[in-house]
Amino acid sequence: MSFCETAKGRYSCRGYKNTEVRHDDLEYILECARIAPSACNLQPWKIYVVRDEKLRGAVCGAYPRDWLKDAPMIAVFCGLRGENWMRAGGTDYLMCDIAIIADHFINAAHERGLGTCWIAAFDESRLASALNLPENEKPYIMTPLGYAAGTAHEIKKRKSIGDICCFI
Ligand SMILES: Cc1cc2nc3c(=O)[nH]c(=O)nc-3n(C[C@H](O)[C@H](O)[C@H](O)COP(=O)(O)O)c2cc1C
Repeated sequence: MSFCETAKGRYSCRGYKNTEVRHDDLEYILECARIAPSACNLQPWKIYVVRDEKLRGAVCGAYPRDWLKDAPMIAVFCGLRGENWMRAGGTDYLMCDIAIIADHFINAAHERGLGTCWIAAFDESRLASALNLPENEKPYIMTPLGYAAGTAHEIKKRKSIGDICCFI
């Protein structure tokens, strides 16, 4: 699968089979995430791969959706505060670094036939207490990981290259 095919084929999957993720697929996905670039190569991140059923239930409590409950796994991407690069003047690049590692994970998952969905609209303090996160770990993104229960999803609507690019 080319990168363009992967990027075009990935979609927000909001329905999962309760089927275990193959170990070699998980390993491949985590390897693709591990290699992600970050500002100054500081790698200010930690991924919680939540498999335990009780813990998954607690994580779902931070984003209660029926479609999330069936996923056999939820990955939570945390930024390590104080370990990331800041631009002179104070612009914080932690969220940018976390978006890159999460994107590697999510696209690699699609390549291996697994569904994911970016989730940011969770209750942060509920998620932090469900995972017992230390003060310096801030959760930015989570995604379920599992096999899609159906094939129906929205057709991608995206702006055209002309709308998003300025050729100067
Ligand atoms: C940073 C980010 C946060 C998102 N948060 C949520 C979310 O909390 N819940 C949700 O259902 N979808 C969430 N999405 C999914 C978007 O709605 C989705 O990516 C967008 O509509 C495009 O659809 P596609 O992913 O199927 O291409 C998020 C996506 C991104 C990139």
